[in-house]
Amino acid sequence: MGDIEKLAIQNILGNDYICHFVENDWGKEIRIMKTDGLAFARIYWENDDNDTIYFNMLNVDESIRKQGVGTYLLSAFKNIAKYLLRQILFLWCKKDSWMNDWYCRCGFTYYSDYFQEDNHVWLKMIR
Ligand SMILES: CC(C)(COP(=O)(O)OP(=O)(O)OC[C@H]1O[C@@H](n2cnc3c(N)ncnc32)[C@H](O)[C@@H]1OP(=O)(O)O)[C@@H](O)C(=O)NCCC(=O)NCCS
Repeated sequence: MGDIEKLAIQNILGNDYICHFVENDWGKEIRIMKTDGLAFARIYWENDDNDTIYFNMLNVDESIRKQGVGTYLLSAFKNIAKYLLRQILFLWCKKDSWMNDWYCRCGFTYYSDYFQEDNHVWLKMIR
Protein backbone atom coordinates (compact mmCIF):
# COMPACT_ATOMS: atom_id res chain seq x y z
CA MET A 1 0.00 0.00 0.00
CA GLY A 2 1.30 3.44 -0.85
CA ASP A 3 1.75 6.29 1.61
CA ILE A 4 -1.25 8.23 0.21
CA GLU A 5 -3.54 5.22 0.66
CA LYS A 6 -2.26 4.69 4.20
CA LEU A 7 -2.83 8.34 5.05
CA ALA A 8 -6.36 8.27 3.60
CA ILE A 9 -7.21 5.18 5.64
CA GLN A 10 -5.78 6.73 8.78
CA ASN A 11 -7.93 9.83 8.08
CA ILE A 12 -11.05 7.68 7.74
CA LEU A 13 -10.34 6.21 11.19
CA GLY A 14 -9.48 9.52 12.81
CA ASN A 15 -7.07 10.44 15.57
CA ASP A 16 -8.41 8.01 18.16
CA TYR A 17 -7.09 5.03 16.18
CA ILE A 18 -3.71 3.74 15.03
CA CYS A 19 -3.30 1.59 11.92
CA HIS A 20 -0.68 -1.06 11.40
CA PHE A 21 -0.40 -2.05 7.74
CA VAL A 22 0.75 -5.58 6.89
CA GLU A 23 1.69 -7.00 3.48
CA ASN A 24 1.60 -10.79 3.21
CA ASP A 25 2.24 -13.18 0.31
CA TRP A 26 -1.51 -13.87 0.12
CA GLY A 27 -2.82 -10.32 0.63
CA LYS A 28 -2.86 -7.22 2.79
CA GLU A 29 -4.23 -6.36 6.19
CA ILE A 30 -4.88 -3.35 8.34
CA ARG A 31 -4.71 -3.94 12.06
CA ILE A 32 -6.51 -1.19 13.90
CA MET A 33 -6.09 -0.27 17.56
CA LYS A 34 -7.80 2.43 19.59
CA THR A 35 -5.00 4.65 20.87
CA ASP A 36 -5.82 3.78 24.49
CA GLY A 37 -5.54 0.08 23.61
CA LEU A 38 -9.20 -0.61 24.47
CA ALA A 39 -10.45 -1.70 21.05
CA PHE A 40 -9.13 -3.63 18.06
CA ALA A 41 -10.24 -4.74 14.63
CA ARG A 42 -8.67 -6.18 11.51
CA ILE A 43 -9.49 -5.59 7.86
CA TYR A 44 -7.95 -7.79 5.18
CA TRP A 45 -8.17 -8.72 1.51
CA GLU A 46 -6.56 -11.23 -0.83
CA ASN A 47 -4.25 -10.38 -3.72
CA ASP A 48 -6.19 -12.49 -6.23
CA ASP A 49 -9.60 -10.90 -5.53
CA ASN A 50 -10.10 -7.20 -6.27
CA ASP A 51 -13.76 -7.10 -5.20
CA THR A 52 -13.82 -8.56 -1.71
CA ILE A 53 -12.76 -7.30 1.71
CA TYR A 54 -13.06 -8.91 5.15
CA PHE A 55 -13.49 -7.72 8.73
CA ASN A 56 -12.59 -9.71 11.83
CA MET A 57 -11.03 -9.63 15.31
CA LEU A 58 -13.40 -6.88 16.40
CA ASN A 59 -12.98 -6.56 20.14
CA VAL A 60 -13.97 -3.75 22.48
CA ASP A 61 -12.83 -3.83 26.11
CA GLU A 62 -15.67 -4.52 28.54
CA SER A 63 -15.08 -1.17 30.27
CA ILE A 64 -16.16 0.78 27.17
CA ARG A 65 -18.76 -1.51 25.60
CA LYS A 66 -22.20 -0.24 24.55
CA GLN A 67 -20.80 3.22 23.85
CA GLY A 68 -20.72 2.96 20.06
CA VAL A 69 -17.08 1.92 19.59
CA GLY A 70 -17.99 -1.32 17.80
CA THR A 71 -20.40 0.62 15.58
CA TYR A 72 -17.68 3.14 14.80
CA LEU A 73 -15.25 0.41 13.74
CA LEU A 74 -17.87 -1.35 11.63
CA SER A 75 -18.66 1.97 9.89
CA ALA A 76 -14.94 2.55 9.36
CA PHE A 77 -14.75 -0.89 7.72
CA LYS A 78 -17.51 0.13 5.29
CA ASN A 79 -15.83 3.47 4.57
CA ILE A 80 -12.44 1.86 4.02
CA ALA A 81 -14.08 -0.70 1.70
CA LYS A 82 -15.56 2.20 -0.25
CA TYR A 83 -12.21 3.97 -0.42
CA LEU A 84 -10.51 0.79 -1.65
CA LEU A 85 -13.32 0.25 -4.21
CA ARG A 86 -14.32 -3.10 -2.73
CA GLN A 87 -17.94 -4.07 -3.47
CA ILE A 88 -18.26 -7.26 -1.42
CA LEU A 89 -17.85 -7.14 2.36
CA PHE A 90 -17.59 -10.25 4.51
CA LEU A 91 -17.41 -10.99 8.20
CA TRP A 92 -18.28 -13.98 10.36
CA CYS A 93 -19.90 -14.29 13.74
CA LYS A 94 -21.77 -16.62 16.04
CA LYS A 95 -25.08 -17.85 14.66
CA ASP A 96 -28.22 -16.86 16.56
CA SER A 97 -26.42 -14.22 18.60
CA TRP A 98 -27.12 -10.55 19.23
CA MET A 99 -23.97 -9.78 17.17
CA ASN A 100 -25.55 -11.57 14.22
CA ASP A 101 -28.71 -9.46 14.71
CA TRP A 102 -26.63 -6.29 15.01
CA TYR A 103 -24.67 -6.98 11.80
CA CYS A 104 -27.95 -7.68 10.01
CA ARG A 105 -29.35 -4.34 11.25
CA CYS A 106 -26.20 -2.79 9.74
CA GLY A 107 -26.87 -4.24 6.28
CA PHE A 108 -25.25 -7.70 6.33
CA THR A 109 -27.10 -10.90 5.43
CA TYR A 110 -26.44 -14.60 5.89
CA TYR A 111 -24.10 -16.02 3.25
CA SER A 112 -23.10 -19.50 4.45
CA ASP A 113 -22.08 -21.49 7.47
CA TYR A 114 -18.54 -20.85 8.68
CA PHE A 115 -16.96 -24.28 8.65
CA GLN A 116 -13.86 -23.43 10.70
CA GLU A 117 -15.98 -22.96 13.84
CA ASP A 118 -19.16 -24.67 14.95
CA ASN A 119 -22.28 -22.56 15.10
CA HIS A 120 -20.78 -19.60 13.23
CA VAL A 121 -21.84 -18.03 9.95
CA TRP A 122 -20.45 -15.86 7.18
CA LEU A 123 -22.35 -12.63 6.65
CA LYS A 124 -22.10 -10.64 3.45
CA MET A 125 -22.90 -7.13 2.32
CA ILE A 126 -22.82 -5.75 -1.21
CA ARG A 127 -21.92 -2.09 -1.13
C1 LIG B 1 -19.28 -7.11 19.80
C2 LIG B 1 -18.61 -5.87 20.38
C3 LIG B 1 -17.39 -5.55 19.55
C4 LIG B 1 -19.61 -4.69 20.34
O1 LIG B 1 -18.89 -3.52 20.73
P1 LIG B 1 -19.60 -2.24 21.39
O2 LIG B 1 -18.67 -1.11 21.31
O3 LIG B 1 -20.13 -2.61 22.73
O4 LIG B 1 -20.83 -2.04 20.36
P2 LIG B 1 -21.78 -0.76 20.23
O5 LIG B 1 -21.84 0.01 21.51
O6 LIG B 1 -21.37 -0.01 19.02
O7 LIG B 1 -23.18 -1.47 19.97
C5 LIG B 1 -23.47 -2.07 18.74
C6 LIG B 1 -24.90 -2.59 18.75
O8 LIG B 1 -24.96 -3.78 19.52
C7 LIG B 1 -25.90 -3.63 20.58
N1 LIG B 1 -25.29 -4.29 21.73
C8 LIG B 1 -24.09 -4.02 22.30
N2 LIG B 1 -23.86 -4.86 23.31
C9 LIG B 1 -24.95 -5.68 23.38
C10 LIG B 1 -25.29 -6.78 24.22
N3 LIG B 1 -24.47 -7.20 25.21
N4 LIG B 1 -26.47 -7.42 24.00
C11 LIG B 1 -27.29 -7.01 23.00
N5 LIG B 1 -27.02 -5.98 22.17
C12 LIG B 1 -25.86 -5.33 22.36
C13 LIG B 1 -26.05 -2.15 20.77
O9 LIG B 1 -27.30 -1.83 21.34
C14 LIG B 1 -25.92 -1.65 19.35
O10 LIG B 1 -27.13 -1.85 18.66
P3 LIG B 1 -27.79 -0.67 17.75
O11 LIG B 1 -26.74 -0.27 16.75
O12 LIG B 1 -28.99 -1.26 17.13
O13 LIG B 1 -28.09 0.44 18.72
C15 LIG B 1 -18.20 -6.12 21.86
O14 LIG B 1 -19.33 -6.55 22.59
C16 LIG B 1 -17.08 -7.14 22.03
O15 LIG B 1 -15.90 -6.83 21.89
N6 LIG B 1 -17.45 -8.40 22.31
C17 LIG B 1 -16.44 -9.47 22.50
C18 LIG B 1 -15.78 -9.86 21.21
C19 LIG B 1 -16.76 -10.21 20.12
O16 LIG B 1 -17.75 -10.90 20.32
N7 LIG B 1 -16.50 -9.66 18.93
C20 LIG B 1 -17.35 -9.80 17.77
C21 LIG B 1 -16.99 -10.96 16.99
S1 LIG B 1 -18.16 -11.14 15.66
